[in-house]
Amino acid sequence: MTLSELSLKEYLVEQTRFVDQELDRLMPGEDTPPETIHKAMRYSLFAGGKRIRPVLCLEAARAVQGGDVDGAVTVACTLEMIHTYSLIHDDLPALDNDDLRRGRPTSHKMFGEAMAILAGDSLLTYAFEVLGRVGDARLVEELARASGTVRGMIAGQVHDIEGEKQTPTAELLDRIHRAKTGALLKCSLRLGAIHAGATAEQLDAISAYGEHIGLAFQIVDDILDVTQTSEQLGKTAGKDAEQHKITFPAVYGLEQSNAMAEEQRVLSHEALAMFGTRARRLHELADLVVDRRS
Ligand code: IPE
Ligand code: IPE
Ligand code: MG
Ligand code: MG
Ligand code: MG
Repeated sequence: MTLSELSLKEYLVEQTRFVDQELDRLMPGEDTPPETIHKAMRYSLFAGGKRIRPVLCLEAARAVQGGDVDGAVTVACTLEMIHTYSLIHDDLPALDNDDLRRGRPTSHKMFGEAMAILAGDSLLTYAFEVLGRVGDARLVEELARASGTVRGMIAGQVHDIEGEKQTPTAELLDRIHRAKTGALLKCSLRLGAIHAGATAEQLDAISAYGEHIGLAFQIVDDILDVTQTSEQLGKTAGKDAEQHKITFPAVYGLEQSNAMAEEQRVLSHEALAMFGTRARRLHELADLVVDRRS
């Protein structure tokens, strides 16, 4: 059976397997000295994340180029390394102080704070070692910018932390979400598209799709924090209200937050018009991002 014949569920299982296999190939083994750090890096990487960023990267390549995009999988894996580093640090006592992640004890609970900080650092560094080997400087620059301090992931984390002591406003909320989650999701799509040789027009369309599903993704993350249990999420539910986070439900309430996620879903679909049926999975992934329960 070819990939396009699989149901969405089967396709996601297959793509996750493909990404995990490449991650396993790329990462130093647990017996590589110093063993502790490689164990810690692998512990968080292989804890059962949804792999949404690598899958988006592969699908952006597919929308641009069609056919076999397996060559983009190494690039796709660097996004999961950055994302996993951001989660390890997000969970640290100095940030969100979480004990549960991906259904397991957080890195600092397992390995201690020092090793968790270093595991995050090393996933960040290693992502760029791997991406550097791919040999396209544009990809390196894009990933660094999306992870960085000017409207990138770290900017979002800074606004998120400082927001705990500020009055929630729509403007602050938008700034937090576009940066802390949106930047890396959009970058996932852009890296796949650039690697596949996208034209400027294609890249603009992919970026617009990325902005909309990036925003939808964090709206839904905030909603799930209120509506789901820790067991369903594999991370501690109800933390955002407890920590006075500026979230969509806090600013708009649940009902309007759901409506706003729906709005982003529609805009995501519209952004894909020029790709026709090649973007079939990207359409399905936009629906998945909005309809997911974990
Ligand atoms: C959670 O990301 C953190 C956010 C950026 C909202 P995911 O929901 O993609 O987490 P995993 O990778 O599946 O664990
Ligand atoms: C985390 O946002 C975003 C990054 C790690 C950059 P959250 O703090 O909302 O993520 P969860 O809910 O802990 O997964
Ligand atoms: Mg956080
Ligand atoms: Mg958190
Ligand atoms: Mg959250």
